[in-house]
Amino acid sequence: MKNLLSVATAVSLWLVIIAPAQAAGGNVAAGQAKAAVCAGCHGADGNGGADPLWPKLAGQDPDYIVKQLIDFKEGRRKDPIMAGMAVPLSAADMKNIGAYYASLKAKPGAAKDAQLAGLGEKVYRGGNAKMGVSACMSCHGPSGHGIPPRFPKVSGQNAAYANKQLLAFKAGTRANDGETMTRMAFRMSEPEIKAVSEYMAGLH
Ligand code: HEC
Ligand code: HEC
Repeated sequence: MKNLLSVATAVSLWLVIIAPAQAAGGNVAAGQAKAAVCAGCHGADGNGGADPLWPKLAGQDPDYIVKQLIDFKEGRRKDPIMAGMAVPLSAADMKNIGAYYASLKAKPGAAKDAQLAGLGEKVYRGGNAKMGVSACMSCHGPSGHGIPPRFPKVSGQNAAYANKQLLAFKAGTRANDGETMTRMAFRMSEPEIKAVSEYMAGLH
């Protein structure tokens, strides 16, 4: 019994250590080399750059990163900067880049406005039943770490970036989400969007 337990512990430890870097089947070192051009905006450690509209990628789910790069390349997600960055990348490059950013450690962020974050917490944890908005944590997890491979990490992300994405989902100008986020954001008010973005920035 004791042996069985230690085997089980060893296997689960192995999964915890090995799984994140390999989830997308990418090569971290090759990804790091390809990501040299990305560092100017996303940070040498993946924790973002000078502009809060440049998202943090450190610790993000590798499959989500790959999906976004494909969507930018094929025009399903529109951004003039990222379209140009994604076009030259091959499928293998994307996998490697996903594995690289997933392997980096996310620095915890912070909510700057505690009152605003408090309002956001209500939406994040409880949704808005009257408006038909689901609790964000049901897909993004109670601590915002996401549920791979479908639901991205939102914890510690720059509030300005999250706010911009939620407004884009609301307006339908970002619609690469299989209608999960667009439907929900459509029913959210702009103050709710601002508040929940502030709250997510402080999650870790
Ligand atoms: C000049 C700045 C800049 C450079 C260089 C850049 N990016 Fe970006 N990246 C952005 C911006 C801005 C966004 C957010 C676009 C939006 O608002 O939808 C973004 C978004 C992303 C996203 C989506 C993140 C998410 O949470 O959905 C990924 C993945 C990404 N970039 C990867 C890369 C990779 C890989 C490279 C290098 C090959 C790169 N970027 C180079 C500015 C940049
Ligand atoms: C039913 C599941 C589900 C629920 C509930 C949900 N989301 Fe999402 N969310 C998603 C999926 C799926 C994506 C990724 C879409 C894509 O592939 O581009 C996403 C993406 C996002 C993004 C963009 C992340 C990035 O890095 O660009 C933000 C921000 C976000 N969600 C916030 C929220 C908030 C706030 C709520 C609660 C009001 C919420 N989500 C509720 C499924 C969900």
